[in-house]
Formats: sequence, C-alpha cells, structure tokens
Amino acid sequence: MNTAEIRGVEDAHLARFYARKPLAIVSGKGAVVFDAEGKEYVDCAGGYGTCIVGHAHPAVAEAIAQQAHKLISCHGSTYNDARAQLLSKLVGILPTELGRVFLSNSGAEAVECAIKVSRKFTGRRKIIAFKNGYHGKTQGALSATWDSKYRKSFEPLVPDFTHVSYGNFETVKEAISKDTAAVLVEPIQGESGIRVPPPDWLPLLRDLTHDTGAVLIADEIQTGFGRTGKILACEHFSVKPDMICLAKGIASGLPIGVTASNAEIMGSVAVGEHSSTYGGNPVVCAAAEATIGVLLEERLVENAAKVGAYFKQKLVDMQNDLRIIREVRGLGLMLGTEMRFDVYSIIQSAIQNGVLLLDAGRNVLRFLPPFCIQPDQVDQVVSCLTAILVKEQIAKLPS
Ligand SMILES: Cc1ncc(COP(=O)(O)O)c(C=O)c1O
Repeated sequence: MNTAEIRGVEDAHLARFYARKPLAIVSGKGAVVFDAEGKEYVDCAGGYGTCIVGHAHPAVAEAIAQQAHKLISCHGSTYNDARAQLLSKLVGILPTELGRVFLSNSGAEAVECAIKVSRKFTGRRKIIAFKNGYHGKTQGALSATWDSKYRKSFEPLVPDFTHVSYGNFETVKEAISKDTAAVLVEPIQGESGIRVPPPDWLPLLRDLTHDTGAVLIADEIQTGFGRTGKILACEHFSVKPDMICLAKGIASGLPIGVTASNAEIMGSVAVGEHSSTYGGNPVVCAAAEATIGVLLEERLVENAAKVGAYFKQKLVDMQNDLRIIREVRGLGLMLGTEMRFDVYSIIQSAIQNGVLLLDAGRNVLRFLPPFCIQPDQVDQVVSCLTAILVKEQIAKLPS
C-alpha cells in the first residue's frame, strides 16, 4: 500500500482521537524509519519514547518470533517461563526495594494500579499530583493528569485528587497531611514541556512523604528505563521512591506497564482485587527481556547520557545563534526546546526534510529518540532544524 491508500483506509475507519501527521511509517532500523515510498527519516519521536533500543532490533525481533512460535497466550493465574525470565532481569536493574511487580499493558494502567495499591496500603484516599503533570487518560490516571483540555469533558473524575505547583516545596507542604495516601510525581515532567524540577525538590518530597506516611509514587513512564541517562530519573536526585510506574519502551514498543514496589506495599492488595487479562503476556515478556539484554550489552543507557549531552549542547548552541528559542531543557535523551511561538509548522517542515519530532504543549519541541542515536544523526537533526528556524526567524521577528 502507498501512503495515500494507507491514509484513505485509516481516515475512513480509525476513531479520530489523534492529531495526525501526514506520513505512513512502514519500517525502521536503529534510529531511522522509512515511509511507504521508502523515504528515510531520523526518528526523534521514537514512537513517543517507546522505541529505546532502536527500531526492529534483531535480538528483540528474534525473541518475539521465537516466543510467538512457542506460546502466545498465558494468563497471570498460571506460571510462565518467559514471565519468570523477564522478572529476574527486571528486578536485577531496579533498586532492590522495588522487587515486587505488577505487569499490565500501558502507562495509564500502571498508574491505575499505583493509585489503588497506595490507597489500599495506607487506608487513605487523598492523592497529591502536580500542575502540568501527565499520567494518562483512563479515568483514574486522568484524575491525576492536570490539563483541563483532557479532563473537562469527562468529569466528574475520581474524587480526592489535588494538584499543587510542580517544583514548589511550600505548596506540597501545605497540601500533604496524615490523610494523604500518595504523592504522584513525574521526576521530570514530559508531556507538558520537559520540565526539570530544582535539585532539592524531589528529596524534600521524599522527606515529607516519610514524615506523613504517604506513598511516594514516581511516574517514570517517560523518564524511566534509561531515557535520562540513568535507569530511573529519580537517581539523578538521589531519591528512592516507594513505588514506580514504568511503560513506554520496556518491551521495545509492545504494550506493557509495570508498577513496582516492595512486598509489604504490594501485598496490601488481596488476590482478585486487581488484575489484567493480558498483563505478563509471554510474547511481551520475551520482548522486554530481550530489550533489557540489548540495553545492557550495547551500553545504551550510557549512550543516552553521552549522546544526550552532545545533543543538548548542540541545541544550546542553536539557541545562542537564534533569537526565537526561549530555553533548552532536559536530561539524557529527554530534551525539549521552548520556542517563542507555536511549533506545529516546524514539526511539519521537519517531516518534509526527513526528521520526526514531537511537541510537548503548544510551544515546546520534544526529542525522544532511540538510545542508539549517533552524533552524526544528531547533527543531521540540528542542521535540519536550524535551516527551518532561520526561515521562521526571518518571517517572525522584526529585523
Ligand atoms: C509520565 C507519563 N505517565 C503516563 C503516561 C500514559 O501512558 P499510556 O499512554 O501508555 O497510557 C504517559 C504517556 O505519555 C506519560 O508520559
């Protein structure tokens, strides 16, 4: 099928829930993807951060194929070798305190589980989340998500959620009490524009949750699994959360969610109170196990730190040269540039010039490339962007 045919069918039948880009991606390799006509794009969208070890990595593809030939379906009520192998590898890269894991199918599901478990464990109802925070769009996760554009058509949402200012210590201190079940926080806010909190803020949240007995839940769905140059972004702040939510790239883009905590916290939920039919599916587990193997063997977390620092410096240089970039933010390969205007047209021009980018809010360009991206590919992205922005600058600013 060519792009026009693919678009014709999808436009006719797919629910119109997404703002769509005018291209059809049909294959990929490493940090590049190809459209239906064979045109190549450097992929800084990375399937919204789900492609971490590179597109169609042979080791991951082989693990999926082998498992699919062996067993595709196996519910969590039965033991399974692929699931056991994934769990051994997964707990091996997570802090030892997070050794009890619930497997589901998406980020929102991982957050739903965290909300329920923290309420059950503490016997409390109140959840503190943050302004500009994003935690997904199912009804519980949406109650923690801040932006009214996502929430307003679906109210009333789940009660007892409060949103306080991100990065501000006093507002959390005022909001938290012995009635707080959990504080749910992104260590770096992703969807709302790559916002990195002050260095002492997460440690202070840790202290406050200790003092009040609330569960500190780190939503590492976008930041986690090496994206920021460490397995968990919380490590940058020397904070150990009570619970984490992971998803996105764990299984190289197959659907997975992880909620991890200690045995005492996870043990508060009784058998049957929470479940998910596909959670821990053998094919997804095999993909995730292979993904962790590749992350470690190819030292991709180190690469995310190294190439991420190079990428950020290139963006800062571009900022210094051009007057239309307000700020460059982020860690590792979770980067954003805040522009002085809407970024929609930049993303469209980048597509025409062979680069895929994301937005994060109206005026932030977001970069979530696979961790295998190389410096020469970063150079290609930056020179494409510079050419586009020079034109924008001429058009937008008085000379
Ligand atoms: C921090 C964070 N939490 C939760 C989610 C929701 O994940 P999903 O879309 O897999 O439900 C996302 C998705 O972008 C996210 O970035």
